[in-house]
Amino acid sequence: MGTLEKVVVVDFGGQYTQLIARRIRELNVFCEIMPYTVSLEKLVEAGPSALIFSGSSASVYDPSAPRCDKGFYELGIPILGICYGMQLMAENLGGEVMRARNREYGQTFVTVQGKSMLLEGVEERFAAWMSHGDQIVTVPSGFKIIATSENSSISAMADEKRKLFGLQFHPEVVHTPPGQQILRNFLYHICGLSGDWTIENFIEGCIAEIREKVGKGGRAVCGLSGGIDSAVAAVLVHRAIGQRLTCIFVDHGLLRKGEKEQVVRTFRNKFQIDLVVVDAGEEFLARLRGVIDPEEKRKIIGNHFIRVFEREADKIGGIEYLVQGTLYPDIIESRTAAGSVIKSHHNVGGLPDDMKLSLIEPLKYLFKDEVRGVAQELGLPEEIVWRHPFPGPGLAVRILGEVTPEKVKILQEADEIIIEEIKKAGLYREIWQAFAVLPNILSVGVKGDCRTYAHTIVLRAVTSQDAMTADWYRMPYNVLERISNRLVNEIPQVNRFVYDMTTKPPATIEWE
Ligand code: XMP
Repeated sequence: MGTLEKVVVVDFGGQYTQLIARRIRELNVFCEIMPYTVSLEKLVEAGPSALIFSGSSASVYDPSAPRCDKGFYELGIPILGICYGMQLMAENLGGEVMRARNREYGQTFVTVQGKSMLLEGVEERFAAWMSHGDQIVTVPSGFKIIATSENSSISAMADEKRKLFGLQFHPEVVHTPPGQQILRNFLYHICGLSGDWTIENFIEGCIAEIREKVGKGGRAVCGLSGGIDSAVAAVLVHRAIGQRLTCIFVDHGLLRKGEKEQVVRTFRNKFQIDLVVVDAGEEFLARLRGVIDPEEKRKIIGNHFIRVFEREADKIGGIEYLVQGTLYPDIIESRTAAGSVIKSHHNVGGLPDDMKLSLIEPLKYLFKDEVRGVAQELGLPEEIVWRHPFPGPGLAVRILGEVTPEKVKILQEADEIIIEEIKKAGLYREIWQAFAVLPNILSVGVKGDCRTYAHTIVLRAVTSQDAMTADWYRMPYNVLERISNRLVNEIPQVNRFVYDMTTKPPATIEWE
């Protein structure tokens, strides 16, 4: 990102690494995460003003423990080591680390010792989040102990001359109340950063970069999904190259009610972006006829989606660039084996790698909440900014068994009622995802004086941070009651309503 101030978080495999990066961004400082294996040369090339060493589940005295190039300490750049990062720093520089007699997990009280730049303005005794089995017994020469915990372990150390610092606790988690103050001290006072990472600066820099990359004549396409990521990517690229961007929106017939209309309203009418809408519902439904296996459904939709997209892109012709709304966590996670498995699953409905187009990924440095900030700044409508995630294969993975036009219609009606009631109750934003499922169960009921044999609608509503794990949302009874009444009264094919109360794991969020 051009000439912005930058911090590099060196990742030793800690569970909070991304959180550290987000906290730094919240302090308006741009940061990148790099694996601990990064070479000294590469690191210098990135041009950081400061380094932060993350935690890790390893022990520094383990021969296979993750270690970085010791040259990092010689660069004259301030370094803050967190948890394992602090222990590694201590060991590397001649201190001593050993297995702790009193391991500390969870919230622990820490007492400040003496005066230090890092802990300036922090209360003398504060709660801090610990998660370590090792401890530093001797700090390296040049360092002083600046905080200790209740069982007198070393909780923080500093060598102010060399600007090297260590924290045994995690300043990035909310259970360390002065954590953000400590990070602010490090970035602003110790490293002298000014905090130039703002949404406005990002947008400006990003547009300039896209212009430079695409040049004066290049053309680009962008697949819109109706979600926030592709929407923001499209608007940014449009700002940079105007009508040389064409957006393609494939309606696979498995969207929620009104979704296509909203995309047209937003992109064609409001932003005046060149938009191609492909009504491919019949093609998709024909291919899904008789198919009941969930994985097969996903594959059929994913493959055909690519074909339709390529067909439309060919019609436009002369395209060199493909715009994608890839986010920073996708890039970090795809570096790990576990991450890539999850990605391929979530990429159904994504675009092929072999399109022979150069990629433009304007959001590749952003976290989700930052994308929301950019979206708001760009003037995208609230419905897109705060929209719940929606899977690429759409309603097909929410209709169990065979997908038919009639079932799609029932589910669209049910989903609309559910979302309307949740929004009316003011609960939409606190829920990660809420949607209707059609489990393909017919049951007996009675409406008026007549026996019915009709569909059941399931409501799935979950809270989550990242969709990797989820809890079922404790929906107030009165909201459930309204949803239930409306579903069975307004949709003739529905006579029963149930609520899914399962966590992930073991259940997934989607039913297929
Ligand atoms: P699961 O069902 O695996 O879903 O717990 C986790 C999150 O991912 C979304 N999801 C998908 N998103 N293409 C996508 O773009 C897919 O094929 C897909 N499958 C699941 C799901 O809605 C939830 O947010």
